[in-house]
Amino acid sequence: MATELSVLDAIATTRSIRRYRDESVPDEVLAEICFAASRAPTGSNRQNFRLIVLTNGPEASAAKKLIASGAQAAWSAKRRTDGYESGSGVDEDSPKARMARSMDTYIENLPTVPALIFPCLIRHRAPTPTEGASVYPAMQNLLLAARARGYGGVVTMWHMAVEQELAELLEIPDGVFVAATVTLGKPVGNHGPVRRQPLAHFVYDGKWGDSPAWAIDPPGTRHTSAGPRKN
Ligand SMILES: Cc1cc2nc3c(=O)[nH]c(=O)nc-3n(C[C@H](O)[C@H](O)[C@H](O)COP(=O)(O)O)c2cc1C
Repeated sequence: MATELSVLDAIATTRSIRRYRDESVPDEVLAEICFAASRAPTGSNRQNFRLIVLTNGPEASAAKKLIASGAQAAWSAKRRTDGYESGSGVDEDSPKARMARSMDTYIENLPTVPALIFPCLIRHRAPTPTEGASVYPAMQNLLLAARARGYGGVVTMWHMAVEQELAELLEIPDGVFVAATVTLGKPVGNHGPVRRQPLAHFVYDGKWGDSPAWAIDPPGTRHTSAGPRKN
């Protein structure tokens, strides 16, 4: 029997996975990860989010193509505005150029991504700055559960360029906010450690800017700068 990952190990290795094997996600795995998502907290325990899960069939295929077109439009703009085509981005071996290539491949393959999930919030009042807080914990639960079962995914905003068409295609009613587009599948390659800035950068003690002496990363932690890269 496979050994279970500890919660802390799952958190430390749930990176964005954008390359998937050509394998569908079995229904029982979808059930487990959606169950994990459904256990997330919501304001006043309203449980007012839903997950639209698309794998196979005509709607899934149409939604994947639609998301691919939205992603292409958003990524082409971001490639320019975030400097992926200038500075070190012109050097093929630079981290920026590698990132750009991996995004190109990801988007090229979106029409055949194994699973597409739209976490949606059913609004009960006019939009507020905190409404996403009743959906996004569910998404992290979903990614962690996927990781625990050997799957991986990434939270994206690719639906934003095609929101209207998506609502029509999936018959999403008015008053429902599509909070993200999650792609999911069996990773090509391995899960690896999440890299962020050192803990001392995130934690303050008493007042803004003062890091506590205890803010120390576990031994062996590797770091990365916050993106997108400036040069
Ligand atoms: C609010 C939010 C929006 C994101 N939007 C996108 C997106 O549109 N496209 C994408 O490929 N990744 C997207 N991501 C994934 C981030 O780029 C990713 O989590 C970040 O670069 C850290 O990488 P890692 O998870 O591999 O450590 C998003 C993540 C969050 C939390």
